[in-house]
Amino acid sequence: MRLSSLSGVLLLLTCLPSALALKAGDFKTCAQSGFCRRGRALAERANANAGAWTSPYSVDPSTLVIAPHEAQFTAGVKSSLYPDIKFGLDVRVHKDGVVRVRMDEVGGLRKRYDEAASWALIQQPEISSEIRWTAGKKDVRAVYGRKKEFEVVITFEPLRVTLLRNGKEQVVLNGQGLLHMEHFRTKEETPATAQVEGGEEGEQVVIKAENPRAWFEGESEDAYWDETFLSWTDSKPKGPESLSLDINFPNHGHVYGIPQRATHLDLPTTTGENPTFTDPYRLYNADVFEYLASSPMSLYGSIPLMHAHSPDSTVAIFNAIASETWIDVSHPTRSSTNTQWVSESGILDVFILPGPTPSDVFAQYATLTGAAPLPAHWALGYHQCRWNYVSTDDVRSVQKRFDEEDIPVDVFWLDIEYAEEHKYFIWDRKNFPDPVDMMKDVEAVGRKMVVIVDPHLKRSSNYPVYQEASELNVLVKPKNGEGEYEGWCWSGSSSWVDFFNPNSWDWWKGLFKTTVRDDGKFSWLDSTENVHVWNDMNEPSIFNGPEITMPKDSIHYGGWEHRDVHNINGMLFHNLTSQAVSTRSDPPKRPFVLTRSFYAGSQRFGAMWTGDNLGTWDHMAVGIYMVLANGVAGMTFAGSDVGGFFGNPEPEMLVRWYQVGAFNPFFRAHAHLDTKRREPFLLDEPYKSIVRDILRLRYSMLPVWYTAFHEGSLTGVPVLRPHYVMFPQDEAGFSIDDQYFVGSSGLLVKPVVQKGVTETSVYLPEDQVGIALVYYNYFTNYIYTGSAKGKNVTVPSALHQTPLLIRGGSIVSTRERPRRSSPLMKYDPFTLRVALDKSGNAKGDLYLDDGETYDYQQGNYIWREFVAGKNGKKGVKISSKDLGIAGRAGNEFEMSMESVRVEKIVVVGLGGKPTSVKLEAGGKELEWTYEPGVAADGKKEGEGSVLVIKDPGVGVGIDWVVVVS
Ligand SMILES: *[C@@H]1O[C@H](CO)[C@@H](O)[C@H](O)[C@H]1NC(C)=O
Ligand SMILES: *[C@@H]1O[C@H](CO)[C@@H](O)[C@H](O)[C@H]1NC(C)=O
Repeated sequence: MRLSSLSGVLLLLTCLPSALALKAGDFKTCAQSGFCRRGRALAERANANAGAWTSPYSVDPSTLVIAPHEAQFTAGVKSSLYPDIKFGLDVRVHKDGVVRVRMDEVGGLRKRYDEAASWALIQQPEISSEIRWTAGKKDVRAVYGRKKEFEVVITFEPLRVTLLRNGKEQVVLNGQGLLHMEHFRTKEETPATAQVEGGEEGEQVVIKAENPRAWFEGESEDAYWDETFLSWTDSKPKGPESLSLDINFPNHGHVYGIPQRATHLDLPTTTGENPTFTDPYRLYNADVFEYLASSPMSLYGSIPLMHAHSPDSTVAIFNAIASETWIDVSHPTRSSTNTQWVSESGILDVFILPGPTPSDVFAQYATLTGAAPLPAHWALGYHQCRWNYVSTDDVRSVQKRFDEEDIPVDVFWLDIEYAEEHKYFIWDRKNFPDPVDMMKDVEAVGRKMVVIVDPHLKRSSNYPVYQEASELNVLVKPKNGEGEYEGWCWSGSSSWVDFFNPNSWDWWKGLFKTTVRDDGKFSWLDSTENVHVWNDMNEPSIFNGPEITMPKDSIHYGGWEHRDVHNINGMLFHNLTSQAVSTRSDPPKRPFVLTRSFYAGSQRFGAMWTGDNLGTWDHMAVGIYMVLANGVAGMTFAGSDVGGFFGNPEPEMLVRWYQVGAFNPFFRAHAHLDTKRREPFLLDEPYKSIVRDILRLRYSMLPVWYTAFHEGSLTGVPVLRPHYVMFPQDEAGFSIDDQYFVGSSGLLVKPVVQKGVTETSVYLPEDQVGIALVYYNYFTNYIYTGSAKGKNVTVPSALHQTPLLIRGGSIVSTRERPRRSSPLMKYDPFTLRVALDKSGNAKGDLYLDDGETYDYQQGNYIWREFVAGKNGKKGVKISSKDLGIAGRAGNEFEMSMESVRVEKIVVVGLGGKPTSVKLEAGGKELEWTYEPGVAADGKKEGEGSVLVIKDPGVGVGIDWVVVVS
């Protein structure tokens, strides 16, 4: 959370800022960033000279070394502009067909930062030992894939990398000749030819054939050696070292990903007429105060992963770079995309993910950076936060009010005011005299707390955490590399732990222990193992720093500048905190750590949220697109603050926002210090009851969410699935980002994000299997028939209604007993909702485990597949079978759940009244009721028929068959 830099802090003391708005001027535009200007100018020169433009970079074939036993080669690369500068190229094809292209300056004056990938990857990817490179005169190439459908070609002159599938270009690097790796140089070395010759900076350059360097690089040395923005000067001791690269998708018209920013999932072009998108997309983790609801601007996290999509295939690019990066997107035709990536520093390290389906791309990316692990089950419940619950008694009374009103909640949060002078871990004893007792009160009904721990450490002699960090010498250093970098944040004068320094790791993890440490250092004795953590401000946010963050010339471990590692910085903090929370207990438990800043791989460490949004309809809407985009890039455990961080949403808006939150993977309400209290129990009727029902709906669906997270942890496919992911060939869905599917449950939701809505048009996709062309209203069982070409249907959505459909062919598991918290539901029975498809079939799965330990990794879980198949003309046979790995039957968890039943099976869309409903094994007639209605055969729309089978007497963890005849 953020106020608004220093002035905001002062304002807070006087009057609070209802009129504060985005200070766009706090953040650079491309035109204010030297290397971005240089990158865009390069593209402009290339465009202006189309036809004549060629890349100066080429592979020297005489240096080609192909590894004998695996798909890897290295080669020297030269630039015709700088014959004395050497570059090295290293290309590999991984076992799963991912192509990694690396290029670095060799034997240069300095070393470029080359460690970004090592923080993002879970391991060194395995290089294929089957695929072989063949070298020709003009290129080196490899053909691979089950049907030899892939071919990757590295052309020597000019250097170009092309991935083809079935002979069609999928991804091309340097196809436009915008590759430029600025080599290290001395300030004196400035060639006479590269002085400004007439004209102002940025003005169209006159082409001079006799000056090829200027022809390519431009006539001026634009911001090579230092750069000033507002009152800050970046000293740039290493001089220019930026990297430009064009990455083109000649056969893909849609690109997604590169979060985080507030815009549509299908990324708008940045080089066209749209006045909002005139700057390139920026990746530079930043604390943007009151960010705009539609903008290419950078926000708190950066994932340099881009999907490119067409009806024919999905491919992706992971550009493992940690420095500030700008990305222009253009569409030369409707079915092609060009991009230019310009980064301030770092080597070229690009992974080409060949797809060809969205799920292949997710699997390939998960193999690189890991899938989001299964979270603690309680973390999928409802989180109640506010800046701030001001005392232990405040927390107790908020909890009491939830309980009195029968409103479920799992987690109470404490923002920064719990900490004395914002010294995290140290309770403000005046207001929080009994933190452990408060925790115990919260834990009594299975609830948890999340407490904030930010990365800024107050430079104070009475703060052991700062003192220890200082003694360990693990704080970030200022630009001269001596002493401690000092900046201003919530805690006043502060310093920041340099998590790139391995000496910080064990020390940091030890801080979260609830017992005395062996090494005598600080540990969090007045907390419990049910306190989980919120890492905010980890971009890092620094109120008096350039662009509200750390100066780029600050020094990290190993002598790297902050510029080199900026976008990874927040991930390491999240990583270490998450390890700390998990390992403080024995055996370890699944940690919950929320982060604001993130990078590729952050999904391994916990959840994220979309930061300080505004309580407006626009922000409510864009929050959905952002959560989808984050999911595409792996950060699937995501949500936006319900209610909006700033402002006082009217009840209608708040209700709609709860509906959005209930269908976000991470569901938290939060509010700024300056807002009125807005906990759901404070609402008047009918709003209060509506919100209670929404929360109950979320809780009833926890099995669906948990199962979706489980699936994602195995496949890397996001919990929220956009249309292009579900129906990759249905072009009408490629730009849809206001409705989406939840896991593979078959649930399709389109939250209402406008005022005064009573009905909503929902798009039913073209069905590519061709069998499930019906959808059911989740609440009324109304059957909508689809169309082979896709169709819009109107779904009622008065204030108490969320447009929520089930796709025919799905079986959804829920738990329908209202409880105060999710752990209290542990032994509750299940309801199965069988939504038949046109052929009378349906399928679904359910995953369950203890919800907090890692015992599931030893086979302690229940994982069932439910299948419904046609039985005769009117009937259906519904069965439950094990999906787990063999040999784990009768595991401890399963045994502990022996008493947990399926209490109800609801079958919708049957063609007529059954004559009997029996368990196959026992044969006894079961109790059931039947409401006639429309059948799932797709001939008619209307309320579907409903068969309710009561208490079939089957356990949730065992095999059974129910026969409806
Ligand atoms: C971050 O987490 C991974 C586990 O995903 C671990 O292997 C790695 O060492 C961690 N990084 C740091 C800096 O501790
Ligand atoms: C559905 O509605 C959207 C938005 O109004 C429209 O663009 C689209 O063409 C419609 N699709 C069909 C199949 O009618």
